[in-house]
Amino acid sequence: MKFFVDTADVREIAALAETGLVDGVTTNPSLILKAGRPMKDVIAEICALVRGPVSAEVAATNTADMVREGRILAGIAANVAVKVPLTLDGLKACRVLAGEGTMVNVTLCFSANQALLAAKAGATFISPFIGRLDDTGIDGMELIHDIRQIFDNYEYIETEILAASIRTANHVKQAALAGADIATIPPSVLSSLVHHPLTEKGLAQFIADWAKTGQTIG
Ligand code: E4P
Repeated sequence: MKFFVDTADVREIAALAETGLVDGVTTNPSLILKAGRPMKDVIAEICALVRGPVSAEVAATNTADMVREGRILAGIAANVAVKVPLTLDGLKACRVLAGEGTMVNVTLCFSANQALLAAKAGATFISPFIGRLDDTGIDGMELIHDIRQIFDNYEYIETEILAASIRTANHVKQAALAGADIATIPPSVLSSLVHHPLTEKGLAQFIADWAKTGQTIG
């Protein structure tokens, strides 16, 4: 499973990229607002830090303007994936941009049929929002299972399932079990994945016992 980091905070991305665990980045207008910096600068800096796809979302809602903005965003760096919303206009823009060789991430997916439409429009990534479905009382992970099963029914579908709106470490595990190709994970959740109390307890014991041996390895 590939790990993308879900933030527009360049410092956080730089720190996480050093671990070698970051395969890409996703941003959205809310994350750009939180970053408080010009979007194009932020995207350019992230693209220089991370080799993999960096999602940058269009602001327009009609096809022509989405395509125009998408071309501008794609011009920032070769690893930009243009993010478009899952609307009819967004799907039409996806078809045009994908046809020009641009990676496209179709976002705000809340149903399996929407995912199927995105695949038909040539999306590189489809982003089902797990946490936001959970918030409404619907099991978001079921959607990942359904999309995986549908995509696996059709060998020619190459669209990757990008599990988004991930809120917990358990979401990451469940998305992996469900066969999501990618999880886009907030930095705090990504950093938490390494921890287990028994790892920390066991390591403390090993360090103490090793000191008692009086040995050195070199
Ligand atoms: C990523 O592409 C999405 O924009 C993001 O995961 C949404 O997460 P949220 O529902 O926590 O805002």
